[in-house]
Amino acid sequence: MSDKTILQQIEEGYQGVGRKDSHYISAKEGRIISRTNSRIISRLEKNKKRKADESEYTTEMRDPNNIVEFDNLHTYFFTDSGVVKSVDGVSFEIPQGSVVGVVGESGCGKSVTSLSLMQLVQAPQGQIVEGSIRFQTSDFVYGEDGKPIPIYEYAKDENGNTLTDEKGEPVVLTRPVTDKKGNVKKDKNGEPVMEKVQAVDENGFPAFEREPKTYDVAKMPTSQMRKIRGKEIAMIFQEPMTSLNPVFTVGNQMDEVVLLHVPGATRESAKARSIEMLRLVGIAEGEMVYKKYPHELSGGMRQRVMIAMALSCNPRLIIADEPTTALDVTIQAQILELLKNVKEKIHGSIMLITHDLGVIAGMADYVVVMYAGRIVEKGTVEDIFYRPMHPYTVGLQKSKPVVNQKTDWLYSIPGQVPNPIDMPDYCYFKDRCQSCIDACNGDYPPLVQVSDTHFVACYRALSEQKEGKDE
Ligand SMILES: Nc1ncnc2c1ncn2[C@@H]1O[C@H](COP(=O)(O)OP(=O)(O)OP(=O)(O)O)[C@@H](O)[C@H]1O
Ligand SMILES: [Mg+2]
Repeated sequence: MSDKTILQQIEEGYQGVGRKDSHYISAKEGRIISRTNSRIISRLEKNKKRKADESEYTTEMRDPNNIVEFDNLHTYFFTDSGVVKSVDGVSFEIPQGSVVGVVGESGCGKSVTSLSLMQLVQAPQGQIVEGSIRFQTSDFVYGEDGKPIPIYEYAKDENGNTLTDEKGEPVVLTRPVTDKKGNVKKDKNGEPVMEKVQAVDENGFPAFEREPKTYDVAKMPTSQMRKIRGKEIAMIFQEPMTSLNPVFTVGNQMDEVVLLHVPGATRESAKARSIEMLRLVGIAEGEMVYKKYPHELSGGMRQRVMIAMALSCNPRLIIADEPTTALDVTIQAQILELLKNVKEKIHGSIMLITHDLGVIAGMADYVVVMYAGRIVEKGTVEDIFYRPMHPYTVGLQKSKPVVNQKTDWLYSIPGQVPNPIDMPDYCYFKDRCQSCIDACNGDYPPLVQVSDTHFVACYRALSEQKEGKDE
């Protein structure tokens, strides 16, 4: 295996391919591209399938109040016409209990960023090539037999104090084992067979020992990722009809999630949990919807079912990728309100992806503005709405209709996003920007911190800020 980093390998591998003045690819260039693609992809795929020791992908959070930290994430697609740098050096964090909105035009890499966190980027052509995604979780502690270690109930006296044996150890509560009919099982001597009573967690499921851990999702082998995907991180997609399986009932699909992720869950407890979740998302006749097939429900109802399904394992993070785009406006408002309530109830965080600034203003605590695979501005919702600095953010806001304000035509940002295969060396927004300065002809602007929470990557915004300070 080569000692070079993947980024170096990419840089060298595609040298001499693609001319800036034309998008034509000669047969020779095509051969170079496909050879380099297959070399890099096979290196990355081998890495994902390796048997890794847990220490290789456990790390520390930079700030323990965050639940996710994207750090210099690069996710590329290796296509026949060259490398598409869909996410190119993205860093932002999701604090615990907050809603982080990700906005930007179609194709700017919002979905690919969230799919990278779930390790669901379309492989083999789509790959995380560099950077880390740190995710804080509380994972089960596994015993020597490879199974999670249960937590037992302790016996108590009439005052509620835990009983101890002669060694001072707490006494585990036991109860007689019964069969399905409720008869007590007896051993050979006619004595009842006893079992330890396992404690239950706040959801009524058997409790197991847990410990806080931080995983680097970008380095995690695929087999390990299945432990947290769907359980610790849940995803709500844009179009519920394509994410629900049409040949299974809603109940069937919801139970499956619980049975897969909650050790010790039975069919009955899973069903009870599913119906409880349907009730939590505002479906009054949970029992009835539980038995229905997805096509029998309306669009809003299906999206509620998707949210209920996402919630059934008490995720710590919900990724909502355009959760309301397929719904009409009244239902949209209801679903957003529901997401907000649900977040409070499960004490989780939400990563909200949308191109609707109105949704962001109403829901988010922090906003990340992406353009062509990079972050151009990030900050609190007040920073972005009251003090926007990047011309792209300003343009996005201008292109939103405002109630009570009469305009002849709505502003639209001129031009298009540059071709993702050969991005310019200068600021990606320069060719569409109406407020360029000389510095904009230089390298891509760095993301600079302008206040405690506010970051921007724009030469003009920074020079104006500097002037403001000097005065
Ligand atoms: N499977 C793929 N193969 C090649 N390129 C891809 C693939 N999936 C995504 N891309 C590219 O990655 C870039 C980012 O796509 P992404 O889906 O993240 O955009 P988005 O910001 O979510 O847009 P939208 O608002 O339309 O959902 C796009 O330029 C797209 O062409
Ligand atoms: Mg998308």
